[in-house]
Order: sequence, then structure tokens, then C-alpha cells
Amino acid sequence: MIIVGYLLHIDVYLLAIKDMMNKMEKNILITGGAGFIGSHVVRRMVKSYPTYGIYNLDKLTYAGNLENLKDIEHLSNYHFIKGDICDGELLQQIFERHQIDGVIHLAAESHVDRSILNPMEFVRTNVIGTVSLLNVAKNYWKERQDVLFYHVSTDEVYGSLAEGAYFYETTPYDPQSPYSASKASSDHFVRAYGNTYGLPYLISNCSNNYGPYQFPEKLIPLFIANILHEKPLPVYGKGENIRDWLWVEDHAEAIDLIFHKGKAGETYNIGGRNEWRNIDLIHVLCEKMDHKLGRKPGSSAALITYVKDRAGHDMRYAIDPSKLQRELGWKPSLTFEEGLDLTIDWYLANQDWVKRVQTGAYRDYYQLQYGERFNS
Ligand code: NAD
Ligand code: DAU
Repeated sequence: MIIVGYLLHIDVYLLAIKDMMNKMEKNILITGGAGFIGSHVVRRMVKSYPTYGIYNLDKLTYAGNLENLKDIEHLSNYHFIKGDICDGELLQQIFERHQIDGVIHLAAESHVDRSILNPMEFVRTNVIGTVSLLNVAKNYWKERQDVLFYHVSTDEVYGSLAEGAYFYETTPYDPQSPYSASKASSDHFVRAYGNTYGLPYLISNCSNNYGPYQFPEKLIPLFIANILHEKPLPVYGKGENIRDWLWVEDHAEAIDLIFHKGKAGETYNIGGRNEWRNIDLIHVLCEKMDHKLGRKPGSSAALITYVKDRAGHDMRYAIDPSKLQRELGWKPSLTFEEGLDLTIDWYLANQDWVKRVQTGAYRDYYQLQYGERFNS
């Protein structure tokens, strides 16, 4: 169900009346649900918890794509609201009308390279947007303790690691990019609202995700697309930086588990103990693509082009997920080999999705599908 033109449209009131009549067990606000990880989290929550009302609030920036949720948009416990997390008035209306009991906050500007070019947008959404959301949650929930504000954050807040070291929940923050500085700031605000106002919160810090529906500006989907079209593969610097990769559905499962079983006021690190030097990962990707496309071995690797390094490029990330494994029993469901195969196969089978993202056509989906009925 789609809700737009919030202040003006009768559908909002009808929806609120329907909510009152069939009071759901819980009403959860998920922000950024039209993005990469958010769409996996929304799908999982809508399908696994039919007695929850799931409200997906997303501004639909370049990274928001409602086509990611086509398969569940007809389900009666799913509701989409187009809007900005910086809009305090809208947030207040959402909390009041839909009696929100929990927030899973994923909305963010997420791409490090974009944060280097335009840091202000990252401050606006990631810092100011998060504080707007915290403020409305605190005011609406008052002293309630049966509610939860869950902030989905990143391992990048901890900075860059030397060889042999790991990120623990106790590792001091040392963000190095405008993106990670904005996420670190939002984590600090979440803890400050817990400490100052008693707001029940949870934070998780996760490593690099990969899988279906990732915007093709990030390493893995960009390189799959470039290999397919025989375009250069731009490797930053010497390709020696190390990232720790996790299958996106394993992240969504961890979020579900932490939201339901995590202890309020705690932080959990999420990662699959799966470190790769960029260049080694790229070679594996190239070999798999040659094989899947029936091309001569070595043809994809020939596209590798070393380019100027990313400014302030963090050398290594590596998560120690022991706390999450020990306390909540989480473990990754796939090996990297399996996850990478599934990811490549998904992108090859969904070239139409990639094309619509690359041409910008995906931006019409919202208008075409729902614009006439709900446009404000
Ligand atoms: P994404 O860029 O794919 O999606 C972000 C979503 O947020 C989009 O749908 C976008 O439209 C929405 N959004 C942006 N600004 C908004 C605003 N002002 N109001 C409402 N909606 C807005 O991001 P992602 O990769 O799915 O990451 C989701 C979250 O997980 C982010 O908070 C990110 O920091 C965190 N995270 C990502 C990774 C990763 O590897 N991608 C790893 C760890 C943590
Ligand atoms: O660690 C978690 C973070 O992972 C998330 O918080 C971010 O939202 C997410 O974007 C991701 O950040 P990275 O900067 O690590 O991801 P990206 O895919 O942009 O880059 C992965 C590595 O590959 C990094 O070392 C930079 C390098 N790279 C990336 C691109 C896009 C290249 O060498 N060439 C490229 O074209």
C-alpha cells in the first residue's frame, strides 16, 4: 500500500482507521527500505511477521528503488510512505497515526565516493535526519520501555585496521571519510538519546554487504556490469585494500535477530569473517564471469585498469562477530563462493533491473504505478 501527499489525502485517514480496527501486534517504521539492504530487511519483516504493520519510509533518492519490493508490495501488512527523515512534522504524523512501536533505521547516504564529493548531503541525511527521527521517537514514546530505536550502522566508524587486528564492539571510533564521520556522529547521537532521555536503543555495525539489488556504483555490481559490457574495471590504487564481505540476507537475518532478541543499550558487530584484498576478489569475479559468459579465460581480467586511489582510502576492515554469535546464536548461511555465484547469477538474470537503474527508468516506477491515484 502506498501513501503519498500525506497531509492532503483521504487515504491516509482511511489507513489510520483501518489500523485502529485491526490493531497489529506491533507497528514498525523501517527507514530506507527502498534501498539495497533496506529492501531485504523490509521483505524479511513483512513476510516473517504478518501480525506486524511494516511502514517503509523512504525519500527515493537515486539509491531508492521501489522495484526492489515489487514482490511484496501487495501484502496487506506492508505500507510505503514517500518522505524525508529530516521532515520532523511528517515523522510526528507517522508515529501518531500509525502508533509506531519500533524503528529500524537504515535510511542514509551510503556511498563513500559520493561523500568525498558532497559531504553536506551526508551531514543532512545521516546526522540531521537521524537526530530528527530520534527526537520524534523520544517525544512520542515518552518514558515507554517496551519500544526500540534500532540504528543500522557500519564498521567504517572504527577507522582503518592494521594487519592482524579486528573491530570489536569496544574499539574506539576513528572515522576517516565524510561518510564514516557522519555515521559515527549518528551512532553517538543514538547513544546520547539513550543516556540522556532513557530512549531504548540498539546499534549494529556491519561490514561490506553484497547481493541482489545493490546499486551498481558499489564494487561488486559495478564490476559485474562492466565485465558484461567489456568496459574497464577501475581498481583504486594498488587494489591492496581489504574488505570483509557479507551476504546481504545474512545481514537482514542478523538485524531481525538483534531487533527481537538484542539487549537494549547494546551494540553488536556483524560480519562473516570473510576478508579479501580487493584485487584478489576482482580476480575471482573475473574468472567466474569468464566461465559463466563462456569467454576465453583471462578476458575479464584484461579489463582491470589501475586508477587514482580514493582520497583517504581506509586500508583494512575486519569484524569480530563473536558477541553476536555467542549471545544471539547468529551465523552466516552461505560461503563467499556460494554468495558470489548467487550474486553474479542474479545480476545476469536481472539485466533489465540493471538497465533500468543505469538509464534512470526505475525512477518512473513509483509515478507510473501509484502516481495517478495518490499524487499530491
Ligand atoms: P542504499 O544507499 O542502497 O539505500 C539507502 C536508502 O535510504 C535509499 O532507499 C534512499 O532513498 C534512502 N534515503 C536516503 N536519504 C533519505 C532521506 N533523507 N530520507 C528518507 N530516505 C532516505 O544504502 P544501503 O547500502 O542499503 O545501506 C543501508 C544502511 O546500512 C545505511 O545506513 C548504511 O550506512 C548501512 N550499512 C551499509 C553497508 C553496505 O555494505 N552497503 C554496510 C554496513 C552498514
Ligand atoms: O564497510 C561497510 C561499508 O561498505 C558501508 O558502510 C558502505 O555503505 C558501503 O558502501 C561499503 O563501503 P566501501 O567503500 O568499502 O564499498 P565500495 O563498494 O565503494 O568499495 C569497496 C572497495 O573497493 C573499496 O576498497 C574501494 C574499492 N573500489 C570501489 C569502487 C566502487 C575500487 O577499487 N574501484 C571502484 O570502482
